[in-house]
Parts: sequence; structure tokens; C-alpha cells
Amino acid sequence: MPNENRLRRLVCLTGFMGCGKSTTARLLSSQLGWAKTDLDKNITEAAGASIAQIFATQGEAEFRRIEREQLERVVAEYTETQRPRILSLGGGTIAQPQNLALLREHGAILIWLQCPIEDLLHRCAQVTDRPLFRDEASFRRLYEERLPAYELADYRVDSSAEPARVVEQILALGIFPQVTV
Ligand code: S3P
Repeated sequence: MPNENRLRRLVCLTGFMGCGKSTTARLLSSQLGWAKTDLDKNITEAAGASIAQIFATQGEAEFRRIEREQLERVVAEYTETQRPRILSLGGGTIAQPQNLALLREHGAILIWLQCPIEDLLHRCAQVTDRPLFRDEASFRRLYEERLPAYELADYRVDSSAEPARVVEQILALGIFPQVTV
């Protein structure tokens, strides 16, 4: 059962493709000594296929089903153990309202790694394994569509900076009481 008074120690990183969720989660969790989960990684392990392969052979709907299933697993594990955890979400995870509702229900904190679209484009153009990065026009459209979902996050930090600076900003939010920055 969610408890308002319980310490909220499931901290989720959200934001568009290329905003640095996985790298930031890795650095932040090691600095805090917290556990870390990369939702995309859990999805690929569960499916035994890369994200590109899941999209190509099973379609986006099946990807979203696996994503939901894996999110439920992480939340259940957190609820059971109360082990503090940094969770890096996929770029589309909280665009599914039921996923956002699940995270809210369990007291997760959401941090949006906000980054200018030009930087995101530049970063994603270097890596070819993102099925939803097809061309610049559709990338821009999807970004606009997703903004309202990211704006629902509890906090936002500027992730156009280098990863160490992004982590500093997150630590400075004051949501990790035992860490001094
Ligand atoms: C997606 C983003 C990807 C991955 C999948 C779908 C999206 O994660 O979950 O390709 O819908 O924006 P990253 O944001 O980590 O690239």
C-alpha cells in the first residue's frame, strides 16, 4: 500500500531519447550507493532481443506490453524490499498514462532530464539502434508530443551539460538527505 509518510526512494529519470538517462543513472547510483535499474536493459533481457529487434519483429504494441510488465516488476521489487533505487525509464515510458499512474501510486519521484531538441538530434544521429529515431521531422514531432508527459515530472534538470554536471544538479535538488554536495 502506498504510504504518504514513507520515504520516497524510487527515483526515476525520464526524458526524450538521447537526454542521458542511462549514463546519469549509472553515475548517480554509484555516487549514492543506491541500486540502479535500466528499464530498457530489463526489457531486452526479458525478451532475449534488442529493442530494435522487438520493434521490427513484434511491433511497438508488444514492446509497450513488455515495458509495462518490466516496470511492474521493478515497482513490485521496490515495494517489497524498500531498497532505494534509481530507475532510468525509456523515453516513452511515462507517455503511457497507466505507467505514470503506477509510478505515482508507489510514491516514485520523477526527474526530467531536459535537453534542447538540437542536442538530442545530434546525440541520437550518432547511434543507430533507436527504432523511433527515423528521421528529423518525425523525431521533432514525437518530441513535441511527449513534452506534456515530461512536464508532469516532479523535478527537471538541464541535461545538455556533461553527465557529471547533470548528477550535481540532481544531488542539489535536496531529495537525497544523506548526501552533501
Ligand atoms: C523509446 C525510447 C527508447 C526505448 C524505445 C522506445 C521511446 O529508450 O525505450 O526505443 O518511445 O521514446 P531511450 O529513451 O533510452 O532511447
